[in-house]
Amino acid sequence: MGKLDGRVAIVTGGGRGIGVEYAKVLATEGAKVAVTDIVDTETTVNIIKQAGGEAVGIHCDVTDVDNINAMVAETLDTYGKIDILVNNAALFADLNQGSFLDIDEAEWDRVMQINTRGVFSCTKAVVPEMKKNGYGKIVNIASGTVFKGTPMLLHYVSSKGAQVAFTRALAREVGDDGITVNCIAPGLTMSEKVIGDPQWDAVKDGNTATRAIKREQMPEDLIGTLVFFSSSDSDFITGQTLVVDGGSAMH
Ligand SMILES: NC(=O)c1ccc[n+]([C@@H]2O[C@H](COP(=O)([O-])OP(=O)(O)OC[C@H]3O[C@@H](n4cnc5c(N)ncnc54)[C@H](O)[C@@H]3O)[C@@H](O)[C@H]2O)c1
Repeated sequence: MGKLDGRVAIVTGGGRGIGVEYAKVLATEGAKVAVTDIVDTETTVNIIKQAGGEAVGIHCDVTDVDNINAMVAETLDTYGKIDILVNNAALFADLNQGSFLDIDEAEWDRVMQINTRGVFSCTKAVVPEMKKNGYGKIVNIASGTVFKGTPMLLHYVSSKGAQVAFTRALAREVGDDGITVNCIAPGLTMSEKVIGDPQWDAVKDGNTATRAIKREQMPEDLIGTLVFFSSSDSDFITGQTLVVDGGSAMH
């Protein structure tokens, strides 16, 4: 028996990187998963189906409210309800590190549009469905950089700081509806696009050295926490951010 038998989950940004692992583990634990992204989600869906799980791929740009509403409607048509929302989609691996003086306003806005407004819009579209059932699990994704004050990605780090605040404030608005809102703050993780990227190669050893557990972080290191925040094991925990980074940032 899985920890998420009978549950229905949406994972945004599930077509690539860490989002693939999130979608896979939710399905392994018994959830039916809507894998959503602007990139192709077929590979993720096929992996889940081949392992005996249930999943549907849905195109969804988290900056487009019509897209989000259509994605939610398709999930409801396919699986009948929504129990879990993993707000994983973000502009991250495609960003270049550099001084904040070189970030132009358009790039700042784009990061905020995807990483903060996207989370708001997806959550806003899903919570009414969760309220109908008196149950829901929202899992946001911040970053260890928020607690370390990591330089050279000011827009990104700021957008991820917003996840911590959003998680806390929203938790108080929906607690009486049986909905928990929690957040995972991963350390530098060797996801699909990070592996082999020279800008991350240049900092990864220094990053590992700051950890209590001195090894590279893999996407699989995050799935236990994701399942915990998605399952009834965390039903009395809300508004929290858990840093999962091998003990680098401690807060
Ligand atoms: N890899 C790390 O070191 C690390 C560390 C801390 C936090 N995170 C966070 O974990 C999550 C996944 O990270 P990753 O390493 O897999 O990054 P990634 O950049 O490879 O993946 C991001 C995913 O979001 C999707 N996406 C981007 N814009 C979108 C949009 N407008 N609408 C819908 N989907 C969109 C991308 O297509 C991609 O599938 C992100 O939220 C990231 O900020 C990653």
